[in-house]
Amino acid sequence: LFATVELAPRDPILGLNEAFNADTRTDKVNLGVGVYFTDDGKLPLLRAVMAAEKARLEAQPARGYLPIEGIAAYDNAVQNLLFGADSALIQAGRVVTTQALGGTGALKLGADFLKRLSPEAVVAISDPSWENHRALFESAGFKVENYRYYDAASQSVDFAGMLASLKALPARSIVVLHACCHNPTGVDLSTEQWQQVVAACRDNGLTPFLDMAYQGFADGIDADGLAVRLFADSGLDFFVSSSFSKSFSLYGERVGALSIVTQSREESARVLSQIKRVIRTNYSNPPTHGASLVATVLNSPELRALWESELAEMRDRIKAMRQALVQKLAEHGAGRDFSFVLQQRGMFSYSGLSAEQVERLKTEHGIYAVSTGRICVAALNSRNIDRVATAIAAVLR
Ligand code: LMR
Repeated sequence: LFATVELAPRDPILGLNEAFNADTRTDKVNLGVGVYFTDDGKLPLLRAVMAAEKARLEAQPARGYLPIEGIAAYDNAVQNLLFGADSALIQAGRVVTTQALGGTGALKLGADFLKRLSPEAVVAISDPSWENHRALFESAGFKVENYRYYDAASQSVDFAGMLASLKALPARSIVVLHACCHNPTGVDLSTEQWQQVVAACRDNGLTPFLDMAYQGFADGIDADGLAVRLFADSGLDFFVSSSFSKSFSLYGERVGALSIVTQSREESARVLSQIKRVIRTNYSNPPTHGASLVATVLNSPELRALWESELAEMRDRIKAMRQALVQKLAEHGAGRDFSFVLQQRGMFSYSGLSAEQVERLKTEHGIYAVSTGRICVAALNSRNIDRVATAIAAVLR
């Protein structure tokens, strides 16, 4: 049966963890995967999460099945975060939200549903995009194309190119957009550019699918909801995948959600019934623990305020690391202006390093990054930053 099975390549991001874990050097640094670490190099357990977890463990809840669509209080809290607590769409019953296995699970639920609705549609992802977007939509059976996004020469968005690509797509194409903190480049659209993207989707009959994995890591919860809210005002049908992996530091709990905006409450009921079928035939119903913690935090004014302050700490530390990186690279003679790193938002920096330079970082210095040159700024800290800056400067010489 397995005689002809080929060995699949390692995952371009999670595969780096495997290689990193196998590396015996004690001063190794993992800037590959998008995970936030504290300045001590530790994965944080947020205080708001600990408080919710303590209460949950003390209550010793029984372990029954959840409804197929997940915990209602969680689904409602997700909607409020994404669309705003006073959203007219939520009040009109036009948003369907289901709990999902992380942001990736939400994307896959949406992809499987869309494949039934628009089997011939093309999926367009940004060039470049998160490595898993292409693989995920292809595995759902779609043809995946790129739309222009990043201009390496100016280290910013090729917006004219992006609009031209969107306008050239056939109607009903599915456009995957990074709602904030673009992964991998860290380069986001301005408000005015988002307005034009919304108009292009409307004028060309495209189906937007917003991937929101980093809400709160650029400017804050509401500010980072800008793109979702502009689409909400547009009257379009659209999809949003969202994740609490990073913002709650709950990576391994797989806490995400799929939200779909429809035209009416009645349409929402039909759409929900279909998403429930996708869930039921994949994994039956979602797990309880992580989502119940998030629901507790988001529905308690005190814990919510604590969480937002912890999120702000993470955001501010990443920004400080961007400043430090730029400064240290200059001090260590990198010989290039890295100030563009300060304009990038979220966990990542598209450093401009080539695959060859990234390989040298790994083999010669034990520093792991994605081969595209993406580094996770959220894994830098005051102890490893000098080593990283020295190593980057060395491979640039
Ligand atoms: C990343 O881009 O590193 C994260 O989103 C983790 C992942 O699943 O790839």
